[in-house]
Amino acid sequence: HALVRPGALWTSLDVVQETGSTNSDLTARAKELPEGAVLVAEEQTAGRGRLDRSWSAPARSGLFFSVLLRPGAGVPVDRWGWLPLLTGVAVATGLSRAAGVDTSLKWPNDLLVTVGGEERKAGGILAERAGEDAVVVGIGLNVTLRADELPVPAAGSLLLADAISTDRETLLRAVLRSLEQWYVDWREAGGDPAASRLQETYAAGCATLGRTVRAELPGDRSLTGEAVAVDADGRLVLATEGGGREPVAAGDIVHLRP
Ligand code: BTN
Repeated sequence: HALVRPGALWTSLDVVQETGSTNSDLTARAKELPEGAVLVAEEQTAGRGRLDRSWSAPARSGLFFSVLLRPGAGVPVDRWGWLPLLTGVAVATGLSRAAGVDTSLKWPNDLLVTVGGEERKAGGILAERAGEDAVVVGIGLNVTLRADELPVPAAGSLLLADAISTDRETLLRAVLRSLEQWYVDWREAGGDPAASRLQETYAAGCATLGRTVRAELPGDRSLTGEAVAVDADGRLVLATEGGGREPVAAGDIVHLRP
């Protein structure tokens, strides 16, 4: 396949017609696969999202794929938490180039597009540890869904956001190229999000920053405040009414409306 160049990150690219979840498939095969394996499904019957949610979309209506990474060669494990945020930045960069669509990121890594003046979720990212040394990063992107095909009213698609291209192969190629660039730079910087310009690029494209949001915390607690920063660990920092600053971890749910 033309995407797979010798010496480059992407070592193999498999396309299956139908499977349960590409994240589950790559995780099950993580031990035998090299870094850079890519698995694309035309249709997923049991796609998974963050926070135990499901991800479902009609066959061939979008991009559903996963990649296997082994960041340990250059990046200490306490920085691997940046991978899903890095992937969000990479998808946004790739889509801006190939589809001409402006996207933003709802912290930590929901991809938002604008449809009729409204922010809509057109993509999501699910990063999961696959054993000691591997991470599987899955990307789901609504590409050709029309308004009457959206799984929930708050969803969007690249087509509805007036993309100049909705050719899935073109988009996949652009996203993989961009993900390779961001990943290799980050790894060469030892995973330091400031040195690889990841932290500032993420902040510049993050729709959550500057807004008053409500975070659901463990133990039925919630926290309302203005999202003011994404810290060096990738956590969202809220400035609360009492004048304090509280970091929110990626496992917590953040609502853009208080
Ligand atoms: C989210 O929005 O919570 C994340 C959605 C991630 C969906 C993708 S589709 C390809 C890969 N395989 C899965 O089962 N999930 C991810």
